[in-house]
Amino acid sequence: MTVETARLLLRAFTPDDADDVHVYASDPSVCRFTDWGPNTFEMTQSWLAQAVEAGLPAHWAITTRADAVGAGGRIAAGTVVGGIGVYGEDRGPLESTPHLRELGWVVRRDLWGRGIATEAVQAVIDALAEDEAVTEIHARCRPEHKASARVMGHLGMARTRRIERDLERDGRWMDSDLYSLIVHR
Ligand SMILES: CC(C)(COP(=O)(O)OP(=O)(O)OC[C@H]1O[C@@H](n2cnc3c(N)ncnc32)[C@H](O)[C@@H]1OP(=O)(O)O)[C@@H](O)C(=O)NCCC(=O)NCCS
Repeated sequence: MTVETARLLLRAFTPDDADDVHVYASDPSVCRFTDWGPNTFEMTQSWLAQAVEAGLPAHWAITTRADAVGAGGRIAAGTVVGGIGVYGEDRGPLESTPHLRELGWVVRRDLWGRGIATEAVQAVIDALAEDEAVTEIHARCRPEHKASARVMGHLGMARTRRIERDLERDGRWMDSDLYSLIVHR
């Protein structure tokens, strides 16, 4: 299964994606607000193995349909430039809440601000909505993470509540804002 948008192709991860994934998974600026990373290559390989095993609709690789220009020059069409994770409520297993999906997303640093997250996540929401059981989409971000909050706004997601001390990083607890979208058909 693949999903195409104007500029992107979304597909399942494959074992060959480790180098592409590691570009963003090892980048401290990408991991500033995440509950994972920066990864060693072994950590990326281990994550990728379970993402490949889980497959779709749990883990979506974001690839570009055309060449792009990044910090280090040309990024060839087909490169994995980010990913979207789909979970059950509170990042539980998918089967625990068939009506509710919580999403998380990441894009490599040198392609930020080009609308890639918005375009990719919208396409995944549309794909998830094809399952009649899905009635609500959630996502969460740290309150100071303005870019992710903008993505939520572009997707029509509304902030529903603050989750205090949601995740711990390097001994520091961070709050999250929970966003929600009701799926209309
Ligand atoms: C969050 C993230 C996925 C956004 O990816 P992206 O492809 O740059 O997103 P988009 O281009 O679709 O939208 C980003 C929006 O934030 C805006 N933005 C970026 N930095 C900003 C900042 N510091 N303050 C305010 N707005 C900001 C952009 O201008 C854009 O808004 P616009 O379309 O209205 O101009 C990316 O920053 C990322 O991977 N971050 C690290 C991982 C992460 O934190 N993931 C989310 C966990 S909740």
